[in-house]
Amino acid sequence: MRRPIIAGNWKMNNTIADTKTLINDLKPLVKDAQCDVVICVPYTDLATAVAETKGSNIKVGSENVHWAEKGAFTGEISAKMLVELGVEYAIVGHSERRQYFGETDQTVNARTKAALAAGLKPIVCVGELLEEREAGKTEEVVVRQTTEAFKDIPDDELVNIVIAYEPVWAIGTGKTATSQDANDTIKIIRDTMANLYCPKCAENKVRIQYGGSMNPKNATELMAMPQIDGGLIGGASLKAEDFSKVVNF
Ligand code: PGA
Repeated sequence: MRRPIIAGNWKMNNTIADTKTLINDLKPLVKDAQCDVVICVPYTDLATAVAETKGSNIKVGSENVHWAEKGAFTGEISAKMLVELGVEYAIVGHSERRQYFGETDQTVNARTKAALAAGLKPIVCVGELLEEREAGKTEEVVVRQTTEAFKDIPDDELVNIVIAYEPVWAIGTGKTATSQDANDTIKIIRDTMANLYCPKCAENKVRIQYGGSMNPKNATELMAMPQIDGGLIGGASLKAEDFSKVVNF
């Protein structure tokens, strides 16, 4: 019932020239995908990505979005600006932004609301740090992050949101959560959404991805888990062949 969604997160890696090459390598490899395919790219690559993916099944997302409609926010980009470019998704609250750029649960909520108000689909990231996991706080952290992120967001928006569960210790480290662990934590996140909204809403409408060193080798096993609806892929999204293998899990 929940359509799988595999999204790439290129981070700060590709130039415009790289963007053209990677997308054109990718298009034939993912054209028969049985899931939604998204690439989230740096702001400077967005226009190129939208142009190069035109007429294909690949959708484009940004890696962040500001919470204000407009105003004195030097260096920032609004949801309206992204929509105007043809962008459909926006990653919100990635752990690298929480870690290096002062992102908080409150700004994640504000960005999520701004994205939805402009018609962008937010991919909201949650996940525990290694020390939180070791202290047995994984559940507490993901429940808090999820609850805060969706504060004052009405249930008719649930079809437009995606959640990415990304244990921070698994990002870019080659360490993946076991498929069972990922499934169990995603169940906790889904139960949190059931409490915030309704059990049926959480079951039928809320898509939850796993992210953190997901690659062609582990994608099949992760995607076979009943709670896992997709992946947010960093490193493996930078190579057309690897990303296509995940997409065609
Ligand atoms: P990774 O990154 O696949 O390189 O671990 C995932 C992410 O940060 O979204």
